[in-house]
Amino acid sequence: MSISFKVSRSTNISADAVGIPVATEGPVPVAVGLGRRELSDRGFDGKVGQTLVLHGLGGSRVVIAVGVGDIAKYGTIEARNAAAALARAAGKAGTLVTGLADIGRGNKADIAQAVVEGIRLATHRYVALKSDKSVAPKLTEVSLAASAANAAAVGRGIQRGVVVADAVCTARDLANMPPAYLTARMMAERAVEIAAATGLGVTVYDKDQLDQMGCGGILGVNKGSTEPPRMVKLTYVPARDAKSGRGRKPHIVLVGKGVMYDSGGISLKPSDPSHAVMKMDMSGAAAVLATMGTLSALKCKNQVTAYLMCTDNMPSGSALKLGDVLTMRNGKTVEIHNTDAEGRLILADGLSLAAEEKPNAIVNIATLTGACMVALGEKVAGVLGNNDALVAQLQNASKRVDEPIWQLPLVKEYRPLLDSTVADMRNIGGPYGGTITAGLFLSEFVGNVPWAHLDIAGPMKVDGDSGWMQKGATAFGTRLLIDTVNNFQPVRAS
Ligand code: BES
Ligand code: MN
Ligand code: ZN
Repeated sequence: MSISFKVSRSTNISADAVGIPVATEGPVPVAVGLGRRELSDRGFDGKVGQTLVLHGLGGSRVVIAVGVGDIAKYGTIEARNAAAALARAAGKAGTLVTGLADIGRGNKADIAQAVVEGIRLATHRYVALKSDKSVAPKLTEVSLAASAANAAAVGRGIQRGVVVADAVCTARDLANMPPAYLTARMMAERAVEIAAATGLGVTVYDKDQLDQMGCGGILGVNKGSTEPPRMVKLTYVPARDAKSGRGRKPHIVLVGKGVMYDSGGISLKPSDPSHAVMKMDMSGAAAVLATMGTLSALKCKNQVTAYLMCTDNMPSGSALKLGDVLTMRNGKTVEIHNTDAEGRLILADGLSLAAEEKPNAIVNIATLTGACMVALGEKVAGVLGNNDALVAQLQNASKRVDEPIWQLPLVKEYRPLLDSTVADMRNIGGPYGGTITAGLFLSEFVGNVPWAHLDIAGPMKVDGDSGWMQKGATAFGTRLLIDTVNNFQPVRAS
C-alpha cells in the first residue's frame, strides 16, 4: 500500500495517531500528558527505537511517545529508526501526524527524507500472495509537522524520501517473489516497464544475442535451466543543464547479480532453510534496477549505466559440469570446479561489458558468498575493490544511509588459488578467504577501471523486524547505490 506524505503546520490536526518525539533528557512535551517519572515507570526513557502508546490522552487520537535519544545527536539514522518504530507502534492507524522531522539541529530535508523512509520501510509488506491482505498496516496518510521556517525543506525531503523508499519497496517485492513468479524473462519485463516509467534507455538481450556477444558466463550458468537467461542494459543520461551542458558527465556503471534461483546447479545445495531463500539471489540486480528507477526523479547529475545479469542456476541433463571450461566476454577462460560459484560467472560478462564502456567507475552488487556472512555476519556487507578512493566513496555513502559495509582486502598473494591446469583460471579458490578469492576472480574482468564489489549475502534478508528492516528481503544496498551514484566523483585509476 502506498502512503501519501505531506507537510502540516502543527501536530494539532485530525489524525488517528500522533507521534510526539521525546528525548532522553529535557522536558517531556505536554502533549504526552505524562511526566518523565511516569514514562520511565512504563519502561520508556526516550531511547531511539522505544515507543509508548497512550490511548485516549489526545481526545480521539492515539498519542504515541516516540524516543529520539539525545537530541544533540539526533540525525538521519536516529530519525529513520525512530520513525520506523513509530510506524510499527501506530498499528492499524490510517492517518498519522508527527513532529519527528521538525526537531534537532540536522538538515531538515535530510531528516524528513529519513522519517519518510523509516515509516514507509517499516510498514511495507509483501502481501501479493496472502489471501488476507489485512495483515498489512493500514497507514495511508502521514503528515510531518514543520514550523514555517522548516516547511520548505521538509517538503523537499518528503519528495526524495518517497522516491527512495518506493524504490526500496520495489526491490524488496522483487526479492520476496517466489522463483516461479519472477523468472529472468519476467525480471526483464519489469525492467522495461520501470525504464519506460522513469525515462531510462533499455535494451534486453536474449540467449542468442548473449551468444553472439560471447557472454559464456551467463550462458554457462543457464545451461541447466529450461528458463532462458536475460541481460538487461539500462542507461540514464542526465538532462543537460544550461551551464554545464557540454562535456562528458562522470559515468558510473552498476552490475547486479540476478540469479533468479540458485539451486547450486549440479553442485546441488542441501535442502536446508538457506536453500529456500535462494529466490533472493537476485537481490543485487533488484537493487540496481530500483536505483536506476530513481535517477530522473532525483535529478541525478551523473551518467549511470546498469547491467542486470539474470538467469537461474539449475541442475539437469544439460547443466554445466565440473571440468567444463567457459569463455567469458573478455576472452578469459574459466574452468568450473563448483557450479554453485555461479554468481562470479555471470558477473564476469557484465563486468567485461561495463569495462568496455570505459566509465569512470564500476560498482557491482551481489549475494556472492556465504563466506562473507561467516566473516561479517548478517548485518554488514563486504566491500572489495581495486581503488581505495572509490571504496571510500561507498563507505561514506554507507554511513549516510545506515547500510553498514566493511572493506576486505584483495590479497594478491591468494591469486594462485584460482590457477587452473587447463584454463586461465578456475571458479573457486581454497577453503578459506572465499569472499576474497571471489573478489580476485571478479577483478580479472574490469581491466584498469576503478571498481568496487559489494557482497550482500549477509544482509539480503532479516529474520525479524529491526529498525528500517522488515522480516524478509531487505533490499540492502538500494539506498547505498542511490546515494553513491548521486554523489559520485571520478577517482584516479590506481
Ligand atoms: N548465492 C550464493 C551465496 C549466498 C549464500 C548468498 C547464502 C546468500 C546466502 C552463491 O552463489 C554461492 O553458492 N556461493 C558459494 C561459493 C562456493 C561454492 C565457493 C558459497 O558461498 O558457498
Ligand atoms: Mn551459488
Ligand atoms: Zn548464488
